[in-house]
Amino acid sequence: MARVLITGISGQDGAFLARQLLARGDEVWGTYRRGAERTFSRPTALGIHEQLRYALVDMAEAGNLIRTLDRIQPDAIYHLAAQSFVGDSFEQPTYTFDVNATGTARLLDAVRTVTPRARVYQASTSEMFGDVRGEAVLDEDGAFRPRSPYAISKLAAHHLVGVHRDAYGLFGCRGILFNHESELRGTEFVTRKITRAVGAVARDEPGVLALGNLDARRDWGYAPEYVDAMIRMMTQDTPDDYVIATGRAASVREFATLAFAAIGVTLAWSGRDADEVAHDAATGALRVRVDPTFWRPAEVGWLRGDASKAARQLGWTATTALESLVRRMVEHDVRTPTASSLSP
Ligand code: GDD
Repeated sequence: MARVLITGISGQDGAFLARQLLARGDEVWGTYRRGAERTFSRPTALGIHEQLRYALVDMAEAGNLIRTLDRIQPDAIYHLAAQSFVGDSFEQPTYTFDVNATGTARLLDAVRTVTPRARVYQASTSEMFGDVRGEAVLDEDGAFRPRSPYAISKLAAHHLVGVHRDAYGLFGCRGILFNHESELRGTEFVTRKITRAVGAVARDEPGVLALGNLDARRDWGYAPEYVDAMIRMMTQDTPDDYVIATGRAASVREFATLAFAAIGVTLAWSGRDADEVAHDAATGALRVRVDPTFWRPAEVGWLRGDASKAARQLGWTATTALESLVRRMVEHDVRTPTASSLSP
């Protein structure tokens, strides 16, 4: 049994990770921010809220981090806390940097000072690859060309963990995770935005789904499998870096097509750029339109990962196909209505 601290327990990955660690018999602590989801809806949805211990921590407070590590004395720290929405980072670059990059520097400094033997998992991201040339399949040696303040902040944190590993012997693992989704995904991310809208259509609610860049391609996997990869990394004899991905890229347009198909609606796409729309092929009802306000100032057009190192060294491979992931999310959102699933 280990004592584990998860920064960012209220997010999708924090909740799934906590569930898997509890199932292993670990004592699991989670940090949360003042004002962030005091109801802990995700741990509650997974039925683990009562088994977790919580600590109020802000990544902006060095002293807060030091005292928390001193009090808990964790054997392992999964550092997931972040401003994780790429779109917002263009409007809030300084805040994104403070939480994601400087916050990681504060955490690592606290670990070095208080619990130098604690293992650290860093939530690195495929966004760091950024401006991918051609349709490259990206592995751990892929070039980083970040395209957003978010990606730059995560790349800085990624390198900080590397420096602590080299300089101070930190047991630091860096998981370069491609997009991973689930029924617990935040509603601002495109997959959940789409599946909630499909749920609303299935219930005959009025409205049209408004999306940004339909051509963006992502490598979408199922989040519970991805947190399993984190645990596998952290329980190796030596710390290392791993790409975690499915190896398949699909466009936002394809994701939306699959999601509507899951409720028996065939989408017919027409038009281009800002005028592109999708109608229900059977009824002619308008279902999707483009709203340029969702276009990002700089976009990552293509992300597809090669997780063969994780397969070789961790025995990990993604098993949920995109079609199953989409169906699972849609079925959940058909069953569970949420307010304002569709834009007017
Ligand atoms: N959010 C959103 N909303 N994205 C849209 C929309 C929309 O209406 N329309 C098109 N997109 C496009 C975005 O421009 C982007 O290219 C793609 O859909 C995916 O956007 P998100 O779901 O917001 O995710 P992300 O890829 O930017 O970032 C996620 O994955 C990263 C790993 O690669 C986040 O989870 C990051 O925290 C994570 O690091």
